[in-house]
Amino acid sequence: MSKATNITAGYDFGDGVPIKVRYIFRGTPYGREELAAVKEAFRGGTLTMGPQVEAFEKEFARYVGCKRAFAVSNCTTAMHVVTQMLDIGPGDEVIVTPNTFIATSLVIVKEGATPVYADIDPRTFNILPAAIEKKITRRTKAIYVVHYGGQSCDMDAIMRLARKHKLPVMEDCAHAHGTRFQGKHAGTFGVAGCFSFHSLKNITTCGEGGMITINDERWADAIQRLRCMNVGPWRPAEAARVMKAYGLRKRKNEYWLPSHFDVEDVNGHWGINYRMNEVQAAVGRAQLRKLDAFIAKRRAAAHYLTERLQGIPGITPVYEDPRGFHAYHLYTLCVEEDALGASRDAFLRELYYREGIQGIQHYQPTYDFTGFRKLGQKARQCPEAERFFYHRETNLPMHPMLTQRELRDTVRGVRRAAAAVRGKGL
Ligand SMILES: Cc1ncc(COP(=O)(O)O)c(C=O)c1O
Repeated sequence: MSKATNITAGYDFGDGVPIKVRYIFRGTPYGREELAAVKEAFRGGTLTMGPQVEAFEKEFARYVGCKRAFAVSNCTTAMHVVTQMLDIGPGDEVIVTPNTFIATSLVIVKEGATPVYADIDPRTFNILPAAIEKKITRRTKAIYVVHYGGQSCDMDAIMRLARKHKLPVMEDCAHAHGTRFQGKHAGTFGVAGCFSFHSLKNITTCGEGGMITINDERWADAIQRLRCMNVGPWRPAEAARVMKAYGLRKRKNEYWLPSHFDVEDVNGHWGINYRMNEVQAAVGRAQLRKLDAFIAKRRAAAHYLTERLQGIPGITPVYEDPRGFHAYHLYTLCVEEDALGASRDAFLRELYYREGIQGIQHYQPTYDFTGFRKLGQKARQCPEAERFFYHRETNLPMHPMLTQRELRDTVRGVRRAAAAVRGKGL
């Protein structure tokens, strides 16, 4: 009899460190509700782009407070669709933060355009409006912002700039389910918001998934075509006429082939298959109903840490912009090397090797990657982003499953690691 292998048991980092608080939780973010949702989707007549996807889109749009939402395969493909929809291509520049996952720049270079990096705010780690303005040229086609860690960018100033220069803004909301600024949800300020449902995000649709949010209906057709092989209705006016003649409900196409669909480019752009399936959408709906509770847990954990990590010289807990509502996708602690008298790396090593608290860095400035250097991107473009990644930040474990004991261990670990390395030199 063959033995089933438990591929998740015993997963470890292989370095012999007794971990007290892992960066990523063990187990599953799912419960009975998600299992029931999967069963329901299995019973449905279709397994992709059916009633579950339609309902998830409507419910997500209602949650964030936008006109329309479109489910896609992930946040990278969401941003690719938006990049094509904005007709960004060779010769164009897109102003973007360097403090982001590679995906935000990748969709720009994939279309042959040039990412232009604007520096970040040292308190929120988000792109700085004043830095954006300095980078605007005749070739600027759009501004791409990221609500880093679940804290909103300064969307008042960014949208003012965008209006002044007539530039569309794309919001990368991969960290920003539940994030608000002046009471408005992230992803509803710019021309489009792009969300991720990757397994580590605030909610997840079986490990992968994404959503595009818009407020202007005029983009709906382009998005629908670009996420699904440029397919659209076949002679919709004729179909509508026929439906009317038969006294039937108005539809965009008749039911048989070849009247099923037409295929047309979107300003010369061709999409591929970026669809979401029914099981993902059903799980997404169950997760969406839990999102506020997840965020309440993240915020309670974050506030516990912030309260207890105040007043340690050389350690800066999270700053919350009072205009926003931080969803705490990440908890970003900063080391101030001069005040600590030691390097961030020394602190981080002590925190991990001796205290067993796993801190992780997000993100290396995108222009520092080898491939981006080959594209002509230079070093030292954004000093604050570099100082942040190479000398200041460490993201502490942050998720809704953190226990009181883990939080206590984290506080003690940070305090002890800071004391151990203090004054040891840079
Ligand atoms: C800021 C940011 N943007 C984009 C992405 C890409 O999301 P996805 O994995 O859903 O394509 C991520 C995912 O890690 C992210 O953190």
